[in-house]
Amino acid sequence: MKKVLCYTLFLTVFTVLGCSQQSKNSNDVEKKINSLLSQMTLDEKIGQMNQLTDVGINDDVKAQIKNGSVGSFLNTMSPEQINEMQKIAVEESRLGIPLVFARDIIHGFKTIFPVPLGQAASFNPEVGYNGARVAAVEASSVGIRWTFTPMMDISRDARWGRIAESCGEDPVLTAKMVVAMIRGFQGENLADPTSIAACAKHFAGYGAAESGKDYNTTWIPEELLRDVYLVPFEAAAKAGCATFMCSFNDINGVPSSGNRHLNVDILRNEWGYDGVLVSDWGSAQQMIPHGFSEDLKQAAEQAANAGMDMDMMGFAYINHLKELVNEGVVSEKTIDSAVRNILRLKYRLGLFDKPYVEIKDSTVFYAKESLEKAKQAAVESAVLLKNENNVLPLANLKSVAVIGALADAPADQVGTWCFDAEPSHSVTPIAAITEAYGKDVKINYVQTLKYSRDKNKSDFPKALAAARNSDAVLYFVGEEAILSGEAKCLADISLQGAQSELLTELKKSGKPVVLVVMAGRPLTIEKEAKEADAILYAFHGGTMAGAALADLIFGKAVPSGKLPVTMPKMVGQIPIYYNHKNTGRPTGKGATLIDEIPVGAGQFSIGSTSYHLDAGSEPLYPFGYGLSYTTFEYSDVQLSDTVISLNGKITAKCTIKNTGKYDACEVVQFYMRDLVGELIRPVKELKDFQKILIKAGESREVEFTLTTDDLAYWHSDMKKRADKGKFYLWIAPSSDLGKAVEFKLK
Ligand code: GLC
Repeated sequence: MKKVLCYTLFLTVFTVLGCSQQSKNSNDVEKKINSLLSQMTLDEKIGQMNQLTDVGINDDVKAQIKNGSVGSFLNTMSPEQINEMQKIAVEESRLGIPLVFARDIIHGFKTIFPVPLGQAASFNPEVGYNGARVAAVEASSVGIRWTFTPMMDISRDARWGRIAESCGEDPVLTAKMVVAMIRGFQGENLADPTSIAACAKHFAGYGAAESGKDYNTTWIPEELLRDVYLVPFEAAAKAGCATFMCSFNDINGVPSSGNRHLNVDILRNEWGYDGVLVSDWGSAQQMIPHGFSEDLKQAAEQAANAGMDMDMMGFAYINHLKELVNEGVVSEKTIDSAVRNILRLKYRLGLFDKPYVEIKDSTVFYAKESLEKAKQAAVESAVLLKNENNVLPLANLKSVAVIGALADAPADQVGTWCFDAEPSHSVTPIAAITEAYGKDVKINYVQTLKYSRDKNKSDFPKALAAARNSDAVLYFVGEEAILSGEAKCLADISLQGAQSELLTELKKSGKPVVLVVMAGRPLTIEKEAKEADAILYAFHGGTMAGAALADLIFGKAVPSGKLPVTMPKMVGQIPIYYNHKNTGRPTGKGATLIDEIPVGAGQFSIGSTSYHLDAGSEPLYPFGYGLSYTTFEYSDVQLSDTVISLNGKITAKCTIKNTGKYDACEVVQFYMRDLVGELIRPVKELKDFQKILIKAGESREVEFTLTTDDLAYWHSDMKKRADKGKFYLWIAPSSDLGKAVEFKLK
């Protein structure tokens, strides 16, 4: 007993000391900030608020650094150049304030992980953590200490190219993934030389761009903004994300760079955020074409008074803030607050103590364990959508045809936003399959189409012959990397070029065809889904995509991915997402489709519910869906109570049995529904998930807990609270499966 007491006492003292040490450190930093601020001229303060892209070191850049008119650079990639620029800032400028160097490292610096949409399909935050940690170690080794990642825009629209950078349509999945990425980038201590500041972007509502066109206007009622779009950002702020970035779009007519309600009322005052808020590239200046600012001077005034700390490549602050302060239009207090946030970032990064990057002779790029983590991420990011007659995993083959543009596309398989990737390091599917199985299996490789938009069918006969001469066909389709990402939006998201026709051709062989899709978004593959015997949706899987796919296809790994975003049958269904409202006329399974309508049918003879005649109301594949090589059986859900009181909680248990012959991971999903609300509520909301390994024939019990906070939502009086009344909950393998269990909040 005595020992326990001593240990508890030690823990308590240690914790108190630890916290007090932390608060002592932060008090020390604030003292240093205030002391430095008191020495700074207005010009020097405004200089810290100015961020420029790298243009190399010329006399003009040297002068800007020396006179303190720039606080940060992005896209400087050479450690030697970074140190040379830093030396001028630290040793030649009047106050020696170090620069902070930034870069977009969205899903890898050199070792590329799957695009974030793919990482989200893993439903495994550790995948997000690993990708960020590997990227932080690689990027910090060249002197980059700030990345503009993770992007956490909720997206319900696959026409939007940036869905590739997102974690999909769900706020809870996105929040869990991005908090893990933030931890990966920032490490345990931001001052560690391998830690880099993360950036919660794009704040906010960017994914709601009308018609899926990038930069387009959004209309988001505040209740929806808070219930859906802000959820990951609040989680990021609470997780200590070092910076935030304004989004390009307007919300209800107010561009984010000038949105005081968003950037001050919510980010600063409600969430208590003390990090840096940086513009997106020129987003302050773009308030002029938005029609929100008359000129660059007004843009500077609006952005500064809306709490934007740093102006990335907008030249608004550096050209107009001094004048605005002298005119009393922007207070020096506002300037000081922004500069405090910037200095705080630099102190937290340890740049005042260690401003220079250590030039290492051996790079940390492509370390063995990094590549292994990237491969594991790609394995977990692939979603098995179809597996007719258990075609997969392939076994006992004498020959296999490998076909398609993405079978050997080292630059495309890494996906969008990979400026620093080296395609020569990509392991492509054909390379991996040849290396791993080429000795035992005859590989008949006919690329046939050279890239995803290729319409040249001249090699179709060769492809068909290869398929006929093989036991099975692996057909790699998808998108070139350039067809997703920023400003890469599509009105038609079906397979590009002649890819779809080639599938129909390959089917003539009568051999099983496995369709492997490598893309940055959900594509509309309803026709292909009927033709293919199996479908593995791998997104753009990164450097090790080919190695991961080889393992999955031949059974060395078992698919565990689940869709992080709904896959529509056709683009006309968009926006289509699982957590939709029920409407007053929901459609059951029995909607009459266009081909079933009798000629001359009367106006109301086929029912009047909410669906498209030519598509129905269901997607091709729903959020949370994904198959395995094994099967899982879910027991009935057991509740701790069927009635809970306000501030109470309820636990739900379920036993999942692996009823197949492969050990495999299952993503067990926990959904709820508020049946009657002051505002109508979604038919389902993901509240949690667990990814668990269950050995063949074995069972595992999972438990989830719901508190009344989980049941709460934003009401029209802008208060977040739960409604009393009836709720459902599900523990299920997908958003469209499972048996509802009822409970009441009294
Ligand atoms: C881009 C993107 C943003 C990126 C920034 C810096 O336009 O919108 O996500 O971080 O500019 O490259």
